Amino acid sequence: MEKSYNQLLENNRKWVADQLSLDPTYFQKLANSQHPEYLWIGCSDSRVPANQITGTLPGDIFVHRNIANMVIHSDMNMLSVLSYAVEVLKVKHIIVCGHYGCGGVLAAMENKQFGLIDNWLRHIKDVYRLHFKELDALKDTKLRADRLVELNVIEQVQDLGKTSIVQNAWKREQPLHLHGWVYDVKDGLIKDLGVNFKGTNDLHSVFHLD
Ligand code: CO
Repeated sequence: MEKSYNQLLENNRKWVADQLSLDPTYFQKLANSQHPEYLWIGCSDSRVPANQITGTLPGDIFVHRNIANMVIHSDMNMLSVLSYAVEVLKVKHIIVCGHYGCGGVLAAMENKQFGLIDNWLRHIKDVYRLHFKELDALKDTKLRADRLVELNVIEQVQDLGKTSIVQNAWKREQPLHLHGWVYDVKDGLIKDLGVNFKGTNDLHSVFHLD
């Protein structure tokens, strides 16, 4: 047990040596500042690491991850990340990336209690309630779960657009595009769900600002 834990630190030293052999100024350059163009809101699932699956490097993506990639308007952690990414780093794109086989989404489809997390999963149940006609029509449980993963991402992109942070960025005409993706843990491929929000007009009129 101790050995596998120490292995991580050993890997780190090897990684540092590898980076320095490629570019002796690698860490100096990164230490000065960060200018990521992307904010990633993804699932905490260990199989969906933002950088590896997009072929990007340290410094490229500002990352927030939680169970089932949720955008919850009272979540101070998510709001703080979003505020810093939009207002200070001025990222150009925000990607909500879900994944098929998401444990959070699967748990939300069940009629069981899981403990504290039920309060979090409730938001996914609300997505189910919004789309129950489409979902209930899918008799295959796997297909229904996959579709709920997709619909959940789409709803989280909408919820992002409804935050005061994104609304104000659009109001001052700061370029900011929101996207919804789903990663497939079975083949490693990302599917773009085609939800691309560029301004308040992409939301329902009740969210428009005068
Ligand atoms: Co997940």
